[in-house]
Amino acid sequence: MKRAILIYYSRTGFTEQYARWLEEMTGCPAVAYKDARKMDLAPYDIMLFASRFRAGYIQKLKWLRRKDRRRKLRAVLATGAAPMGSPEAKREVSVSVRDEGFRCAVFYLESGIRYEAMGRIEKLLMRLFLRLMGEQDNGKYQHSYDNSSREYLQPVVRYLQELGAAEEEKNL
Ligand SMILES: Cc1cc2nc3c(=O)[nH]c(=O)nc-3n(C[C@H](O)[C@H](O)[C@H](O)COP(=O)(O)O)c2cc1C
Repeated sequence: MKRAILIYYSRTGFTEQYARWLEEMTGCPAVAYKDARKMDLAPYDIMLFASRFRAGYIQKLKWLRRKDRRRKLRAVLATGAAPMGSPEAKREVSVSVRDEGFRCAVFYLESGIRYEAMGRIEKLLMRLFLRLMGEQDNGKYQHSYDNSSREYLQPVVRYLQELGAAEEEKNL
């Protein structure tokens, strides 16, 4: 079986939760960005990257470009507050990955908003962002909520199985 690693960047916990779920479901170790920065990735055949989608950008993709010198990246998982079925979210996330020069699978995962875990700047950015979005449809984003679900990871699990980097039956 191929050795895979998932590196994740999370500020308010949603991406970390998804990374932990995927670790449980596939056995693929999940490593936080701050630890992965110092890691040697040579022992791994495949890399996955999970991060938060913020105001049109997937955070830390530029860092990933430098880290992935050997082109081991196979998938980017982006978490965001947009609804799971949103074609715009899927498109924006894909464009963001492509613009950074990556050619890999892209998965969008709905998460939520967690104001209590945001710093002052993030809260301010969020307020500005909501104002830019206009009144329509942003009532939902005024308060913390969590729409994340383990189920959303099923396509990622299948993808890892196809790559030969996940066991067939592990806790699915
Ligand atoms: C300032 C700000 C901007 C955001 N912009 C977007 C966005 O453009 N699209 C989206 O779907 N979610 C957006 N979100 C929601 C986050 O992407 C979502 O909460 C994410 O899962 C947080 O990840 P984390 O908990 O791992 O840090 C934004 C959140 C903040 C604070």
